[in-house]
Amino acid sequence: MKTPVIAPSLLAANFLDLGKEVDMINRSEADWLHLDVMDGRFVPNISFGLPVIAQVSKVCTKVCDVHLMIEEPGQYAEAFAKAGAQYLTVHLEACPHLHRNLQQIKSLGMKAGVAINPHTSVRLLEDIIIDADLILVMSVNPGFGGQHFIPHSLDKIRQVREMIDSTGSAALIEVDGGITADNAGAVVAAGADVLVAGSSVFGAKDPMAAIRALRNVTAPTVK
Ligand code: DX5
Ligand code: ZN
Repeated sequence: MKTPVIAPSLLAANFLDLGKEVDMINRSEADWLHLDVMDGRFVPNISFGLPVIAQVSKVCTKVCDVHLMIEEPGQYAEAFAKAGAQYLTVHLEACPHLHRNLQQIKSLGMKAGVAINPHTSVRLLEDIIIDADLILVMSVNPGFGGQHFIPHSLDKIRQVREMIDSTGSAALIEVDGGITADNAGAVVAAGADVLVAGSSVFGAKDPMAAIRALRNVTAPTVK
């Protein structure tokens, strides 16, 4: 099985000590740093925004992966590019002009991602997958860390994998929500390339060991 890209989610970090947390990520085997932006409208929570990301991206040596859980993300794409975002992911459910949003993100020099909520059919990606650099399958309802992985997400990951393979899209599959060392193997076996992990990394006694464990997952044995 391929080694997944690990993207710890800063949402679960100690915000009083962000410099130390980013330093730990820099020293770890994580490949990306996942940054969750919430507006209190698209999702029922508010997290952090541009000033925090601008500071974090200056010192972070990993790929800066920004997940926008906001309405009208097009209004802010340029600001996130300036703040150091390398991947910028918008929600399909928030974008009536999704194709335009992806073109804008790419024209600003970033990779463009499309996220889908647990209830959103993978079929809705059919006409956009060829333009996306990343598909983010939400495996919890967005807005909060520390929730349980929704098992049906595995079917959705397999469907996205099939769509990518049959269309020749170069998109990576990222999975976000409730990822632990116990389910990561099944998620990668289903076709995921990138694993986002908040609580299971920052809540661990040894976060660097937790990152390593996620990276080294093996496929679950079929009973
Ligand atoms: C949830 C966010 C996630 C969150 C994941 O809306 O998109 O990135 O930080 O946290 P865990 O890994 O704790 O489910
Ligand atoms: Zn996220």
